[in-house]
Order: sequence, then structure tokens, then C-alpha cells
Amino acid sequence: MNATVQIQEELQMTATLQAQQTVVETLNREQANALVAYLNYKKYHWLTYGPLFRDLHLLFEEQGNAVFAMIDELAERSLMLDGSPVADPADYLPTATLRPSTGQLSVRDMLGEAVASHELIIQEMHQDAELAAEAGDIGTADLYTRLVQTHQKHRWFLKELLKKGDGLVS
Ligand SMILES: [Fe+2]
Repeated sequence: MNATVQIQEELQMTATLQAQQTVVETLNREQANALVAYLNYKKYHWLTYGPLFRDLHLLFEEQGNAVFAMIDELAERSLMLDGSPVADPADYLPTATLRPSTGQLSVRDMLGEAVASHELIIQEMHQDAELAAEAGDIGTADLYTRLVQTHQKHRWFLKELLKKGDGLVS
């Protein structure tokens, strides 16, 4: 192998490793966001009230559990790429782009906040799936493509609850 070919191959290998590291960074952020989304859901699960209490209490738990399951999938995907998942509990908040819910909220505000959280995650997952596909990482792109559908389903359920004008409770 001549020196030029060797340099080209080394550059290619460096570029591949850099692309993989960038994908792992998206996985870290998505993992951190999944934990924040889960904790927010537990808050709504506990603090919801009113005529829709039972439905909302159960829905927040169900959707929270689905988001919780994503944490492990995202972390283990990082390991499959020889990357490091977010492991130290203290690293979650600084890595997340989703903000933890704060203070007393009306039920409508809880629902609105949950919809906004899904909007953020859905938008980021689209960008991250594209980035993974461009890096040739179809596995991570597929993971995002699959998980985003759950977020879209959650957003749909929450948005239906926010609709007014049925004369029943709003
Ligand atoms: Fe519970």
C-alpha cells in the first residue's frame, strides 16, 4: 500500500469514527430527554385531578412507562456503537434539551406541556434520524424512526384531550 492510499484510508476511518461519535451524542441527548419526559409524566400522573382524573391518571402512567422503556434502548444503542451512554444520574439534566416540569399546573397546562415535550422530541428525532442515515448508521436511524411513532401517538392522544366544544367537560 502506498503512502497516499494509507493516508486516505486513515482519513476515511477518522471521518467514520467522528460520524459515529456524533450519532452517539444524539443518542445521549435522546436518552436524557426520555428520562426527563418520564419524570414529567410521573408528575402529571400524581398531580392530575378533576372529571377526567381516572383516564388521565392512567394515560399519563401508560405513556410514561412507554417513554421509560426507551431509556434503556437508547443507552444500549450507544454501547452497540462502542459509545458511552449517559450513566451517571447527575449527567442527565445537563445532557437533556427537554426541561423538567416545575410547579403547580392546571390539567390543561399539564396536557399542553406534555404535547410540547413530544413536539420537541419528535422534531429532534427527525433530525437525528437524518444525521444517522447520512452517517450510514441505518440501525440508529431505524430506532429513531420506530420510537418517533410512539411519540406521535402520545401527542395525538393528548391533543384529542385538549379539544374543546363537546359540551361535556369543556
Ligand atoms: Fe401510580
